[in-house]
Amino acid sequence: MDVSQAQNAILSLLGQVAPSALPKVIQWMKTSSEIEELTTSNADILLHNIADDLRNCLPVEAMVGSEKEAVENIQSLQRPTLHVDAFLYDEDTIDSLCEEGKMSRNYCMSCGSTKTAPLDFLSHSFSILELKFLFHHALPDLSGKNLLDVGSRLGAVLYAGYVYSSASKLEGVEINAEFCDLQEKIIKKYNFTDRIQVHHSDVCSQKTLLQGADVVVLNNVFEYFLNKEEQTKAWIFMHENLRKKGCLIVTVPSLEESFSKLQINIPLSEWVEEIELDTDIFLGPDTDQEALSDIHLYKIL
Ligand SMILES: C[S@@+](CC[C@H](N)C(=O)[O-])C[C@H]1O[C@@H](n2cnc3c(N)ncnc32)[C@H](O)[C@@H]1O
Repeated sequence: MDVSQAQNAILSLLGQVAPSALPKVIQWMKTSSEIEELTTSNADILLHNIADDLRNCLPVEAMVGSEKEAVENIQSLQRPTLHVDAFLYDEDTIDSLCEEGKMSRNYCMSCGSTKTAPLDFLSHSFSILELKFLFHHALPDLSGKNLLDVGSRLGAVLYAGYVYSSASKLEGVEINAEFCDLQEKIIKKYNFTDRIQVHHSDVCSQKTLLQGADVVVLNNVFEYFLNKEEQTKAWIFMHENLRKKGCLIVTVPSLEESFSKLQINIPLSEWVEEIELDTDIFLGPDTDQEALSDIHLYKIL
């Protein structure tokens, strides 16, 4: 059954429900765990298990001691910001931590008062739902293709690519040694060694990796981790080495936004074409359309 056939069948069924029962049936459809289970797979459960393992190895903010510069950059943001790694913490986990007093969604505006305002949240990884959207809805079939995650951090993109796609090879390049060790542990534990490989390196010394990839993921990769001059150099390196015609580039935020903040004058329309993504989709009760619409997909011309 395709989408419109399923919609017609549901409408026809709902047309037979007694009008007084209809609100209850619709409410059940919106909130029932049975419906939620239809959207949950073994792959989702495996990713949740990996997130549990990683949470046990990391502090709540999921940043490590060697990320001094990134921590300073984030502390200098104008609005108070909370690090919540979206791969490790879904909405339910955040609620539990708030209840236990280990996390707060608000900050005190004048110390000692009860006046509070919501904190800005900053994640350094995609959430499981965003990854499901990426591999099941945004990207085409990846059979026979190589994917490269630039700044692979906890490895979330690589593990999701393993369980949600048929990509032949999933490579990560990560500048931080502590995160490379963590990824190696997970890759071994879950037997992902046949398709996943992580390189501990600065991506700007990895021409061959960039030039050979069919899909390249750049999720908030440079902004908080490099100074402006280094960011500009890194983007120019991306532009010089991502040249394979038809190669797909996934970015958060858009290339336009990253380039405008750094005043990089690369004519984007001569390099890539943006592919519109349909984010009007239900992937589970935590689906965040706003977060999905931050994901941009480009094809190299
Ligand atoms: C926001 S995280 C991306 C996480 C992951 N790709 C995801 O989507 O879940 C960015 C990562 O890029 C790494 N990074 C920053 N500059 C890099 C560089 N020049 N080469 C390799 N990794 C870099 C940082 O250490 C950080 O772990």
